[in-house]
Amino acid sequence: MARAKSSKKIGLAIIGAGRVGLFRGDTAMRHPAVEWIGIAEKNHNRGHFVAEKIGADFITQDYKELLKRPEVNAVIIATDEHLHVAPILDALAYGMPLLIEKPLATTLADSAKVMAAIEQAGVDAIVGYTQRFRRNWMGAKEKVASGALGDVTLVTSRAFMNRLVAIDNYKRTNDPKSISPMVISGTHALDIAMWYLEAKTPVELYARSIDKVLGPLYGGIDATAGMIMFSDGCILHTNISWALPVTWPGAVYSLEVGIVGTEGVLTIDDTHRDMVLAVSAPQEEGYNPDKRRLVDFMGSYPPGDWLDGELIGPMAEETNSWLNRVATGQKTHAATVKEAHNRLMLTKAFDLSAKLRKPVDLPIDAELEERLLRGV
Ligand SMILES: NC(=O)c1ccc[n+]([C@@H]2O[C@H](COP(=O)([O-])OP(=O)(O)OC[C@H]3O[C@@H](n4cnc5c(N)ncnc54)[C@H](O)[C@@H]3O)[C@@H](O)[C@H]2O)c1
Repeated sequence: MARAKSSKKIGLAIIGAGRVGLFRGDTAMRHPAVEWIGIAEKNHNRGHFVAEKIGADFITQDYKELLKRPEVNAVIIATDEHLHVAPILDALAYGMPLLIEKPLATTLADSAKVMAAIEQAGVDAIVGYTQRFRRNWMGAKEKVASGALGDVTLVTSRAFMNRLVAIDNYKRTNDPKSISPMVISGTHALDIAMWYLEAKTPVELYARSIDKVLGPLYGGIDATAGMIMFSDGCILHTNISWALPVTWPGAVYSLEVGIVGTEGVLTIDDTHRDMVLAVSAPQEEGYNPDKRRLVDFMGSYPPGDWLDGELIGPMAEETNSWLNRVATGQKTHAATVKEAHNRLMLTKAFDLSAKLRKPVDLPIDAELEERLLRGV
Protein backbone atom coordinates (compact mmCIF):
# COMPACT_ATOMS: atom_id res chain seq x y z
CA MET A 1 0.00 0.00 0.00
CA ALA A 2 1.30 3.48 -0.88
CA ARG A 3 2.24 5.86 1.95
CA ALA A 4 -0.54 8.36 2.67
CA LYS A 5 0.90 11.79 1.89
CA SER A 6 -1.99 14.19 2.33
CA SER A 7 -4.97 14.18 4.59
CA LYS A 8 -8.42 15.69 4.22
CA LYS A 9 -9.88 17.39 7.30
CA ILE A 10 -13.01 15.66 8.57
CA GLY A 11 -16.25 17.21 9.84
CA LEU A 12 -18.03 14.21 11.35
CA ALA A 13 -21.77 13.75 11.86
CA ILE A 14 -22.80 11.05 14.35
CA ILE A 15 -26.47 10.11 14.05
CA GLY A 16 -27.56 8.15 17.13
CA ALA A 17 -25.41 8.69 20.22
CA GLY A 18 -26.20 5.55 22.18
CA ARG A 19 -23.55 3.05 23.20
CA VAL A 20 -22.00 2.73 19.75
CA GLY A 21 -22.31 6.45 18.93
CA LEU A 22 -20.29 7.18 22.07
CA PHE A 23 -17.66 4.52 21.30
CA ARG A 24 -17.10 5.76 17.77
CA GLY A 25 -17.19 9.40 18.89
CA ASP A 26 -14.54 8.67 21.54
CA THR A 27 -12.19 7.30 18.88
CA ALA A 28 -13.04 10.07 16.40
CA MET A 29 -12.29 12.86 18.89
CA ARG A 30 -8.72 11.52 19.18
CA HIS A 31 -8.18 11.22 15.40
CA PRO A 32 -5.89 13.95 14.01
CA ALA A 33 -7.96 14.53 10.84
CA VAL A 34 -11.23 15.09 12.73
CA GLU A 35 -11.69 18.86 13.22
CA TRP A 36 -15.40 19.04 13.95
CA ILE A 37 -17.99 16.64 15.41
CA GLY A 38 -21.76 17.08 15.39
CA ILE A 39 -24.24 14.80 17.14
CA ALA A 40 -27.89 14.08 16.37
CA GLU A 41 -29.57 12.19 19.20
CA LYS A 42 -33.32 11.89 19.75
CA ASN A 43 -32.92 11.54 23.50
CA HIS A 44 -32.02 15.03 24.79
CA ASN A 45 -30.22 13.97 27.99
CA ARG A 46 -28.25 11.22 26.30
CA GLY A 47 -27.21 13.58 23.49
CA HIS A 48 -25.87 16.15 25.93
CA PHE A 49 -24.07 13.50 27.98
CA VAL A 50 -22.25 12.17 24.89
CA ALA A 51 -21.60 15.66 23.47
CA GLU A 52 -19.84 16.64 26.67
CA LYS A 53 -17.85 13.41 26.81
CA ILE A 54 -16.45 13.75 23.30
CA GLY A 55 -16.34 17.57 23.13
CA ALA A 56 -18.86 17.79 20.27
CA ASP A 57 -19.17 21.12 18.45
CA PHE A 58 -22.86 20.84 17.62
CA ILE A 59 -25.84 18.93 18.97
CA THR A 60 -29.41 18.51 17.76
CA GLN A 61 -32.30 16.08 18.14
CA ASP A 62 -33.01 16.32 14.39
CA TYR A 63 -30.48 14.52 12.20
CA LYS A 64 -31.63 16.46 9.12
CA GLU A 65 -30.35 19.68 10.79
CA LEU A 66 -26.99 18.01 11.35
CA LEU A 67 -26.70 16.78 7.75
CA LYS A 68 -27.28 20.35 6.53
CA ARG A 69 -24.31 21.75 8.45
CA PRO A 70 -21.56 22.98 6.10
CA GLU A 71 -18.79 21.45 8.28
CA VAL A 72 -20.05 17.87 7.76
CA ASN A 73 -18.25 15.70 5.18
CA ALA A 74 -18.57 12.19 6.70
CA VAL A 75 -21.41 10.46 8.53
CA ILE A 76 -21.74 7.66 11.09
CA ILE A 77 -25.22 6.13 11.40
CA ALA A 78 -25.52 4.41 14.78
CA THR A 79 -29.26 4.45 15.42
CA ASP A 80 -31.13 1.34 16.64
CA GLU A 81 -31.11 -1.62 14.25
CA HIS A 82 -34.57 -0.93 12.80
CA LEU A 83 -33.96 2.82 12.45
CA HIS A 84 -31.08 2.93 9.97
CA VAL A 85 -33.01 3.31 6.73
CA ALA A 86 -34.30 6.92 6.91
CA PRO A 87 -30.99 8.52 7.97
CA ILE A 88 -29.08 6.48 5.35
CA LEU A 89 -31.42 7.57 2.54
CA ASP A 90 -31.33 11.22 3.70
CA ALA A 91 -27.53 11.22 4.04
CA LEU A 92 -27.12 9.87 0.49
CA ALA A 93 -28.39 13.16 -0.96
CA TYR A 94 -25.15 14.79 0.29
CA GLY A 95 -22.84 12.19 -1.31
CA MET A 96 -20.66 11.88 1.80
CA PRO A 97 -18.83 8.72 2.94
CA LEU A 98 -20.84 6.66 5.42
CA LEU A 99 -20.09 4.26 8.25
CA ILE A 100 -23.36 2.42 8.88
CA GLU A 101 -23.98 0.15 11.85
CA LYS A 102 -25.00 -3.46 11.21
CA PRO A 103 -27.42 -4.74 10.12
CA LEU A 104 -28.02 -2.59 7.06
CA ALA A 105 -31.76 -2.87 7.81
CA THR A 106 -33.97 -5.39 9.58
CA THR A 107 -36.12 -6.44 6.62
CA LEU A 108 -34.93 -7.87 3.32
CA ALA A 109 -36.94 -5.33 1.31
CA ASP A 110 -35.39 -2.39 3.19
CA SER A 111 -31.91 -3.83 2.98
CA ALA A 112 -32.22 -4.28 -0.81
CA LYS A 113 -33.65 -0.76 -1.16
CA VAL A 114 -30.80 0.77 0.84
CA MET A 115 -28.14 -1.20 -1.06
CA ALA A 116 -29.57 -0.09 -4.42
CA ALA A 117 -29.76 3.55 -3.29
CA ILE A 118 -26.14 3.54 -2.07
CA GLU A 119 -24.93 1.96 -5.31
CA GLN A 120 -26.89 4.47 -7.37
CA ALA A 121 -25.55 7.41 -5.37
CA GLY A 122 -21.98 6.09 -5.81
CA VAL A 123 -21.29 6.76 -2.13
CA ASP A 124 -18.32 5.16 -0.36
CA ALA A 125 -19.98 3.28 2.51
CA ILE A 126 -18.86 0.61 4.95
CA VAL A 127 -20.90 -1.38 7.48
CA GLY A 128 -19.88 -2.07 11.09
CA TYR A 129 -18.92 -5.73 11.12
CA THR A 130 -16.46 -4.87 13.83
CA GLN A 131 -15.08 -8.34 14.64
CA ARG A 132 -13.09 -8.25 11.38
CA PHE A 133 -10.80 -5.88 13.26
CA ARG A 134 -10.09 -8.32 16.09
CA ARG A 135 -6.57 -9.68 15.67
CA ASN A 136 -7.64 -13.38 15.83
CA TRP A 137 -10.07 -13.06 13.00
CA MET A 138 -7.73 -11.03 10.81
CA GLY A 139 -4.96 -13.58 11.32
CA ALA A 140 -7.25 -16.43 10.28
CA LYS A 141 -8.39 -14.51 7.19
CA GLU A 142 -4.76 -14.14 6.16
CA LYS A 143 -4.17 -17.92 6.48
CA VAL A 144 -7.32 -18.86 4.55
CA ALA A 145 -6.57 -16.32 1.80
CA SER A 146 -2.94 -17.44 1.41
CA GLY A 147 -4.09 -21.05 0.88
CA ALA A 148 -2.37 -22.44 3.99
CA LEU A 149 -5.39 -24.69 4.66
CA GLY A 150 -5.82 -25.80 1.05
CA ASP A 151 -9.44 -25.81 -0.13
CA VAL A 152 -11.70 -25.00 2.81
CA THR A 153 -14.35 -27.72 3.13
CA LEU A 154 -15.93 -27.10 6.56
CA VAL A 155 -16.33 -24.11 8.84
CA THR A 156 -17.98 -24.55 12.21
CA SER A 157 -18.88 -21.81 14.68
CA ARG A 158 -20.48 -21.82 18.11
CA ALA A 159 -21.68 -18.50 19.57
CA PHE A 160 -22.82 -18.30 23.19
CA MET A 161 -24.33 -15.07 24.46
CA ASN A 162 -25.50 -13.72 27.76
CA ARG A 163 -29.27 -13.12 27.58
CA LEU A 164 -28.81 -9.47 28.66
CA VAL A 165 -28.39 -8.50 24.99
CA ALA A 166 -31.51 -10.36 23.92
CA ILE A 167 -33.61 -8.88 26.71
CA ASP A 168 -32.41 -5.37 25.84
CA ASN A 169 -33.27 -5.90 22.16
CA TYR A 170 -36.71 -7.34 22.82
CA LYS A 171 -37.53 -4.55 25.29
CA ARG A 172 -36.53 -1.85 22.77
CA THR A 173 -38.86 -3.06 20.01
CA ASN A 174 -42.61 -3.13 19.55
CA ASP A 175 -42.16 -5.75 16.80
CA PRO A 176 -40.37 -8.74 18.40
CA LYS A 177 -40.86 -10.79 15.24
CA SER A 178 -38.38 -8.50 13.42
CA ILE A 179 -35.67 -9.41 15.94
CA SER A 180 -33.87 -12.70 16.10
CA PRO A 181 -30.54 -13.93 17.48
CA MET A 182 -29.35 -14.54 13.91
CA VAL A 183 -30.30 -11.10 12.50
CA ILE A 184 -29.05 -9.05 15.46
CA SER A 185 -26.04 -10.98 16.79
CA GLY A 186 -25.37 -14.19 14.84
CA THR A 187 -24.66 -11.91 11.91
CA HIS A 188 -21.21 -11.11 13.39
CA ALA A 189 -20.01 -14.74 13.44
CA LEU A 190 -21.68 -15.33 10.08
CA ASP A 191 -19.86 -12.35 8.60
CA ILE A 192 -16.52 -13.72 9.73
CA ALA A 193 -17.23 -17.16 8.25
CA MET A 194 -18.58 -15.75 4.99
CA TRP A 195 -15.60 -13.37 4.77
CA TYR A 196 -13.34 -16.43 4.89
CA LEU A 197 -15.51 -18.22 2.33
CA GLU A 198 -15.96 -15.22 0.04
CA ALA A 199 -14.78 -17.13 -3.04
CA LYS A 200 -17.58 -19.72 -2.63
CA THR A 201 -21.26 -19.58 -3.53
CA PRO A 202 -23.89 -20.50 -0.91
CA VAL A 203 -26.72 -22.49 -2.49
CA GLU A 204 -28.83 -24.04 0.28
CA LEU A 205 -29.57 -23.50 3.97
CA TYR A 206 -31.25 -25.50 6.70
CA ALA A 207 -31.97 -24.32 10.26
CA ARG A 208 -34.02 -24.90 13.43
CA SER A 209 -34.78 -22.55 16.33
CA ILE A 210 -35.69 -22.89 20.01
CA ASP A 211 -37.88 -20.47 22.00
CA LYS A 212 -38.39 -21.90 25.49
CA VAL A 213 -36.97 -18.95 27.48
CA LEU A 214 -37.47 -15.79 25.42
CA GLY A 215 -40.59 -17.06 23.64
CA PRO A 216 -42.94 -16.91 26.65
CA LEU A 217 -41.34 -13.66 27.91
CA TYR A 218 -41.08 -11.59 24.72
CA GLY A 219 -42.29 -13.68 21.78
CA GLY A 220 -38.61 -14.09 21.00
CA ILE A 221 -36.16 -16.79 19.89
CA ASP A 222 -33.50 -18.32 22.19
CA ALA A 223 -31.23 -20.06 19.74
CA THR A 224 -30.83 -21.02 16.11
CA ALA A 225 -28.65 -23.75 14.64
CA GLY A 226 -28.16 -24.54 11.00
CA MET A 227 -26.03 -25.24 7.99
CA ILE A 228 -25.22 -23.44 4.77
CA MET A 229 -24.24 -25.62 1.82
CA PHE A 230 -21.99 -24.20 -0.94
CA SER A 231 -21.93 -25.05 -4.65
CA ASP A 232 -18.56 -26.85 -4.31
CA GLY A 233 -19.79 -29.06 -1.42
CA CYS A 234 -18.29 -26.92 1.38
CA ILE A 235 -20.40 -26.70 4.57
CA LEU A 236 -20.77 -23.90 7.11
CA HIS A 237 -22.17 -25.31 10.35
CA THR A 238 -23.18 -22.63 12.82
CA ASN A 239 -25.25 -21.95 15.91
CA ILE A 240 -26.03 -19.12 18.27
CA SER A 241 -27.81 -19.00 21.61
CA TRP A 242 -28.45 -15.60 23.14
CA ALA A 243 -30.48 -17.04 26.01
CA LEU A 244 -27.69 -18.01 28.40
CA PRO A 245 -28.36 -17.01 32.04
CA VAL A 246 -27.42 -13.50 33.13
CA THR A 247 -24.83 -15.11 35.42
CA TRP A 248 -22.99 -16.63 32.42
CA PRO A 249 -19.51 -15.03 32.67
CA GLY A 250 -19.45 -13.80 29.08
CA ALA A 251 -20.68 -10.16 29.12
CA VAL A 252 -21.83 -10.57 25.54
CA TYR A 253 -20.14 -12.85 23.01
CA SER A 254 -18.17 -16.06 23.35
CA LEU A 255 -17.19 -17.72 20.10
CA GLU A 256 -15.37 -20.85 18.96
CA VAL A 257 -14.58 -21.42 15.30
CA GLY A 258 -12.94 -24.23 13.37
CA ILE A 259 -11.88 -23.96 9.74
CA VAL A 260 -11.03 -27.25 8.04
CA GLY A 261 -9.35 -27.42 4.66
CA THR A 262 -7.91 -30.18 2.48
CA GLU A 263 -4.38 -29.28 3.67
CA GLY A 264 -4.87 -27.91 7.17
CA VAL A 265 -7.07 -26.81 10.00
CA LEU A 266 -7.28 -23.64 12.05
CA THR A 267 -9.15 -23.36 15.34
CA ILE A 268 -9.90 -20.08 17.09
CA ASP A 269 -10.88 -19.78 20.73
CA ASP A 270 -12.54 -16.38 21.08
CA THR A 271 -14.48 -17.40 24.19
CA HIS A 272 -12.43 -14.99 26.38
CA ARG A 273 -11.87 -17.69 29.00
CA ASP A 274 -8.24 -16.57 29.00
CA MET A 275 -8.98 -13.67 31.40
CA VAL A 276 -11.51 -14.30 34.15
CA LEU A 277 -12.47 -11.74 36.79
CA ALA A 278 -14.34 -12.82 39.95
CA VAL A 279 -15.41 -10.18 42.46
CA SER A 280 -17.50 -9.82 45.62
CA ALA A 281 -19.27 -6.65 44.44
CA PRO A 282 -20.76 -6.06 40.96
CA GLN A 283 -18.72 -3.97 38.49
CA GLU A 284 -19.95 -1.10 36.30
CA GLU A 285 -18.68 -2.80 33.18
CA GLY A 286 -19.72 -4.74 30.13
CA TYR A 287 -23.00 -4.49 28.25
CA ASN A 288 -25.66 -3.64 30.80
CA PRO A 289 -24.11 -3.80 34.24
CA ASP A 290 -26.17 -6.30 36.24
CA LYS A 291 -25.80 -6.93 39.97
CA ARG A 292 -26.04 -10.70 39.52
CA ARG A 293 -22.84 -10.79 37.44
CA LEU A 294 -19.86 -11.36 39.72
CA VAL A 295 -17.72 -13.37 37.30
CA ASP A 296 -16.68 -11.90 33.99
CA PHE A 297 -14.80 -13.18 30.93
CA MET A 298 -12.92 -9.94 30.41
CA GLY A 299 -12.74 -8.95 26.76
CA SER A 300 -16.09 -10.54 25.89
CA TYR A 301 -17.71 -7.19 25.13
CA PRO A 302 -17.34 -7.13 21.33
CA PRO A 303 -16.65 -3.42 20.71
CA GLY A 304 -13.76 -3.39 23.21
CA ASP A 305 -13.26 -1.99 26.70
CA TRP A 306 -12.96 1.38 28.38
CA LEU A 307 -9.38 1.45 29.58
CA ASP A 308 -8.03 4.58 31.24
CA GLY A 309 -11.02 6.51 29.86
CA GLU A 310 -10.49 5.43 26.24
CA LEU A 311 -12.15 2.76 24.08
CA ILE A 312 -9.54 0.10 23.29
CA GLY A 313 -10.47 -2.74 20.98
CA PRO A 314 -11.89 -3.67 17.59
CA MET A 315 -14.45 -0.87 17.34
CA ALA A 316 -11.72 1.74 17.91
CA GLU A 317 -9.58 0.07 15.22
CA GLU A 318 -12.47 -0.15 12.78
CA THR A 319 -13.41 3.51 13.34
CA ASN A 320 -9.80 4.61 12.87
CA SER A 321 -9.51 2.52 9.71
CA TRP A 322 -12.61 4.24 8.28
CA LEU A 323 -11.46 7.73 9.33
CA ASN A 324 -8.07 7.07 7.70
CA ARG A 325 -9.89 6.01 4.56
CA VAL A 326 -12.00 9.19 4.55
CA ALA A 327 -8.94 11.38 5.23
CA THR A 328 -6.38 9.74 2.95
CA GLY A 329 -8.24 7.27 0.71
CA GLN A 330 -6.43 4.23 2.13
CA LYS A 331 -8.01 0.79 1.85
CA THR A 332 -9.95 -0.85 4.65
CA HIS A 333 -11.04 -4.46 5.11
CA ALA A 334 -14.33 -3.30 6.65
CA ALA A 335 -17.50 -4.92 5.30
CA THR A 336 -18.97 -3.50 2.12
CA VAL A 337 -22.66 -2.71 1.70
CA LYS A 338 -23.02 -5.69 -0.65
CA GLU A 339 -21.56 -8.00 2.00
CA ALA A 340 -23.84 -6.49 4.65
CA HIS A 341 -26.89 -7.13 2.47
CA ASN A 342 -25.72 -10.69 1.89
CA ARG A 343 -25.41 -11.24 5.68
CA LEU A 344 -28.94 -9.90 6.25
CA MET A 345 -30.22 -12.14 3.46
CA LEU A 346 -28.54 -15.21 4.99
CA THR A 347 -29.70 -14.46 8.55
CA LYS A 348 -33.26 -14.02 7.23
CA ALA A 349 -32.89 -17.34 5.42
CA PHE A 350 -31.90 -19.00 8.73
CA ASP A 351 -35.06 -17.62 10.36
CA LEU A 352 -37.19 -18.60 7.37
CA SER A 353 -35.89 -22.16 7.21
CA ALA A 354 -36.39 -22.56 10.97
CA LYS A 355 -39.99 -21.32 10.70
CA LEU A 356 -40.76 -23.55 7.70
CA ARG A 357 -38.77 -26.48 9.12
CA LYS A 358 -37.54 -26.99 5.59
CA PRO A 359 -34.35 -26.32 3.63
CA VAL A 360 -34.31 -23.06 1.65
CA ASP A 361 -32.57 -22.47 -1.69
CA LEU A 362 -30.27 -19.45 -1.71
CA PRO A 363 -30.37 -16.58 -2.33
CA ILE A 364 -33.77 -15.42 -1.09
CA ASP A 365 -35.41 -12.04 -1.56
CA ALA A 366 -38.28 -10.30 0.22
CA GLU A 367 -40.89 -11.53 -2.24
CA LEU A 368 -39.82 -15.18 -2.00
CA GLU A 369 -39.59 -14.91 1.80
CA GLU A 370 -43.17 -13.66 1.96
CA ARG A 371 -44.46 -16.26 -0.48
CA LEU A 372 -42.82 -19.14 1.40
CA LEU A 373 -44.16 -17.86 4.72
CA ARG A 374 -47.66 -17.75 3.20
CA GLY A 375 -47.09 -21.30 1.97
CA VAL A 376 -47.46 -20.55 -1.75
N1 LIG B 1 -20.49 -3.07 15.29
C1 LIG B 1 -20.71 -3.65 16.46
O1 LIG B 1 -19.94 -4.43 16.98
C2 LIG B 1 -21.96 -3.28 17.21
C3 LIG B 1 -22.06 -3.49 18.59
C4 LIG B 1 -23.23 -3.11 19.23
C5 LIG B 1 -24.27 -2.55 18.50
N2 LIG B 1 -24.13 -2.37 17.16
C6 LIG B 1 -25.19 -1.75 16.35
O2 LIG B 1 -25.14 -0.34 16.55
C7 LIG B 1 -26.47 0.20 16.46
C8 LIG B 1 -26.76 0.99 17.72
O3 LIG B 1 -26.68 0.13 18.83
P1 LIG B 1 -26.49 0.68 20.31
O4 LIG B 1 -26.14 -0.48 21.15
O5 LIG B 1 -25.60 1.88 20.30
O6 LIG B 1 -27.99 1.13 20.61
P2 LIG B 1 -28.47 2.29 21.60
O7 LIG B 1 -29.89 2.08 21.86
O8 LIG B 1 -27.52 2.39 22.75
O9 LIG B 1 -28.28 3.61 20.71
C9 LIG B 1 -29.09 3.98 19.64
C10 LIG B 1 -29.33 5.48 19.78
O10 LIG B 1 -29.88 6.01 18.59
C11 LIG B 1 -30.81 7.02 18.95
N3 LIG B 1 -31.69 7.27 17.80
C12 LIG B 1 -32.57 6.41 17.24
N4 LIG B 1 -33.14 6.98 16.15
C13 LIG B 1 -32.60 8.21 16.03
C14 LIG B 1 -32.79 9.29 15.11
N5 LIG B 1 -33.63 9.18 14.07
N6 LIG B 1 -32.08 10.42 15.28
C15 LIG B 1 -31.22 10.55 16.32
N7 LIG B 1 -30.99 9.56 17.23
C16 LIG B 1 -31.68 8.42 17.09
C17 LIG B 1 -31.52 6.45 20.16
O11 LIG B 1 -32.15 7.47 20.91
C18 LIG B 1 -30.34 5.80 20.90
O12 LIG B 1 -29.74 6.68 21.84
C19 LIG B 1 -27.39 -1.00 16.21
O13 LIG B 1 -27.61 -1.14 14.83
C20 LIG B 1 -26.58 -2.18 16.74
O14 LIG B 1 -26.91 -3.41 16.14
C21 LIG B 1 -23.00 -2.70 16.51
